[in-house]
Amino acid sequence: MRHLLGIEGLNPVAVTAMLDLAENYVLLNRSGKTQRDLLRGRTLINLFFEDSTRTRTSFELAGKRLGADVINMSVSTSSVSKGETLLDTAATLNAMNCDLLVVRHNQSGAPALLAQKVEAAVINAGDGMHEHPTQALLDALTIRRRKGRIDGLTIAICGDIAHSRVARSNLLLLSMLGNQVRVVGPPTLIPAEIASLGVQVYHDMEAGLAGADIVMALRLQKERMNKGLVPSAREFFAFYGVSAEKLAFAKPDALVMHPGPMNRGVEIDSAVADDSVRSVIKEQVEMGVAVRMAVLDTLARGPIWNG
Ligand code: NCD
Repeated sequence: MRHLLGIEGLNPVAVTAMLDLAENYVLLNRSGKTQRDLLRGRTLINLFFEDSTRTRTSFELAGKRLGADVINMSVSTSSVSKGETLLDTAATLNAMNCDLLVVRHNQSGAPALLAQKVEAAVINAGDGMHEHPTQALLDALTIRRRKGRIDGLTIAICGDIAHSRVARSNLLLLSMLGNQVRVVGPPTLIPAEIASLGVQVYHDMEAGLAGADIVMALRLQKERMNKGLVPSAREFFAFYGVSAEKLAFAKPDALVMHPGPMNRGVEIDSAVADDSVRSVIKEQVEMGVAVRMAVLDTLARGPIWNG
């Protein structure tokens, strides 16, 4: 496999190798050093058809720390806003000899389509409601570093599961590594077919969080909802918002995660998000840079994904 299009298709050996490599990059980043010779002369294009803060900047930083020439293209400044199709864009990128192409798109499958047309290694940075593999890898790294392992844990993913590519990539990855994954949320925000992926479904936070090692809150993805699936943000917070009161149902040493951007007071209480003992939200951002360095390094070197 030349590209990273999703967690689907990866195996535990490849994932573990990626996380191990990312550990080295955590140390490198903390030491303040870079490894600019690694991707020197390579071109990385960040092609973002959707807004992003963390993901785009962390790919940019990851590419630069490894010495790549990094170009950011966002839709509003590129020809795409003038009606250029995805495939015309691909042809243009090919002509520029791009080596690594990081793509975010609101349509599921867009990075896979590009991967068939460009010579670059394509990395999916989030496609519609489908997958966001580097987010799942950085979450796994954060958990592994904090808990000392990434198997045998109970992980509750809470909130808007239906519209979340983060939920999908995470449940695929965390289940594959041997954890018990639960999804917790109102029936309107949990797809009926999700149980077939081997996760446990809960509609009640007390039951869903009982005994959990990890509590992951997800944003209400209003931009993907075409009708009111929740009565109001206030009501959602009362039933499903991760607050200190609800966190008490989980294990005493349970950690709180959120991929960002957060809606404080909707899916997560501010005090919980900023709790320096329980919340690892800032660490997730730090791990994001290290994981993306590991992914760029691996894809630039050639495939090890099949283990
Ligand atoms: C997520 C995304 O874009 O899928 N954000 C991210 O990459 N950290 C989650 C979200 O938008 O809520």
